[in-house]
Amino acid sequence: MVTFTLNGQETTFDGDPDTPLLWVIRDAQRLTGTKYGCGIAQCGACTVHVDGSTRRSCITPISTLDGSSVTTIEGLEGSEAEAIQAAWRAIDVPQCGYCQSGQIMSAVSLLQFNPAPSDDDIDGAMAGNICRCATYKRIRQAIHDAAKTLEG
Ligand code: FES
Ligand code: FES
Repeated sequence: MVTFTLNGQETTFDGDPDTPLLWVIRDAQRLTGTKYGCGIAQCGACTVHVDGSTRRSCITPISTLDGSSVTTIEGLEGSEAEAIQAAWRAIDVPQCGYCQSGQIMSAVSLLQFNPAPSDDDIDGAMAGNICRCATYKRIRQAIHDAAKTLEG
């Protein structure tokens, strides 16, 4: 039995301990904002936060998360999350949308660690999040806009 916190709620999972976190989130917990893209840590669609840092949930066995705190797109909160979500809406970042929850999870984490990122910082931090609709320019702009909002 694995006990962890999911979006602030204590949660247990007593299935196969090798089950990737992604499927615990989507199938057991019915939170479908976190997406499956590649299953091999190459696309970033499945990005969540574990104990405050980004994690590819598709390759994270649930057994490694006992006692951890997991946040998905549904549970994002705080000033960085609000600023990022507002900036995303303001310039209408998504195209098909499939990659976007992963993009937002990475962008929020970036601003939590680096409140004033340069273009290079953004490109580096977001490099693991692939967008087949190529919304990269708007993503970068939205992160800069969110950083400005946070600056006050
Ligand atoms: S589905 Fe996890 S990185 Fe692609
Ligand atoms: S918005 Fe379509 S894959 Fe990124």
